[in-house]
Amino acid sequence: MGKKVTVVGAGFYGSTTAQRLAEYDVFETVVLTDIVAGKPEGLALDLNQSRPIEGFETKVVGATTGPNGEGYEAIEASDVVVITAGLPRKPGMSRMDLLGVNAKIVRQVAENVAKFAPAAVVIVVSNPLDEMTALAQIATGFPTNRVLGQAGMLDTARFSNFVAEALAVPVGDVRTLTLGSHGDTMVPVPSRCSVRGTPLAELLPAGQIDELVVRTRNGGAEVVALLKTGSAYYAPSAAAARMAKAVAEDSGAVMPVCAWVDGEYGISGVYLGVEAEIGAEGVKRVIETELTPSERADLLNAAEAVRAKQADITNL
Ligand code: NAI
Ligand code: 2OP
Repeated sequence: MGKKVTVVGAGFYGSTTAQRLAEYDVFETVVLTDIVAGKPEGLALDLNQSRPIEGFETKVVGATTGPNGEGYEAIEASDVVVITAGLPRKPGMSRMDLLGVNAKIVRQVAENVAKFAPAAVVIVVSNPLDEMTALAQIATGFPTNRVLGQAGMLDTARFSNFVAEALAVPVGDVRTLTLGSHGDTMVPVPSRCSVRGTPLAELLPAGQIDELVVRTRNGGAEVVALLKTGSAYYAPSAAAARMAKAVAEDSGAVMPVCAWVDGEYGISGVYLGVEAEIGAEGVKRVIETELTPSERADLLNAAEAVRAKQADITNL
């Protein structure tokens, strides 16, 4: 049988993710859901009408859902579920300001996912990301490898784009990495950055690398400030869609994701941005990469900051 992916939340992030997933043409079905009656059905109809032009066969199904599981039959037998439901930031807000309101939404969604798609791999994108990923794991009761979050793919892409622009080189030549949280304790990793194999430190002065690190850490806020309402979705949806594709294809692709860390880097019992191999069972393996002493210290600091917040979420 063909693969089925569900995207919960048909806002900017969800609808662009559904579009990317459909246009890959590797899934049999892409389901898009929302609580706003008619919105997912309307977007699904529109996406399906793009099929003859874009030339893909994937069928998009829209379904309005209710808080008590109404409409969730549509997600049954999903191989992957991407949770985008939740409020985005407004200018001046931190991702953490969304904690209370999005926790209620993500808990309710996750409980329904567990009921209707109990074998799915869950990819969380709702903010604050690290905490919502931990909450989704608790609320689904799924094994930790089957619940992961999207952040590192996006933050790394932002870093790569800034480096490519600074050096006027093709983005395809640039390798960067970000680890840690999708927040103030994000850890861009300059020691792992290179352009066609040449270390970034040999190509840019340290001060300019620091500026790119800061811009990467503020990458989401920079877009929010320009948009004035809502947050980024083109790069974020590209990141989540690639993760869902890696799961569906059991590709084993190595990606920076928010994953459950159990001993790597001497850190245990927390969801944190790390590199991991992604496949049919979600996270196949967390990969520990070599870091400088200060990058390692920053990662430990990020882990403790996230751990402190994640400890509170069981009550939300
Ligand atoms: P949006 O406001 O455009 O869409 C959110 C959608 O969720 C709305 O259509 C809303 O009706 C729906 N929704 C609310 N409660 C729901 C429920 N219980 N079930 C199903 N749908 C529900 O916001 P946008 O731009 O799509 O962002 C979504 C989330 O993704 C936000 O929390 C945002 O902060 C986060 N985000 C995360 C990123 C990451 O890297 N992890 C990057 C960008 C955004
Ligand atoms: C972003 O990084 C707001 O988390 C969102 O664009």
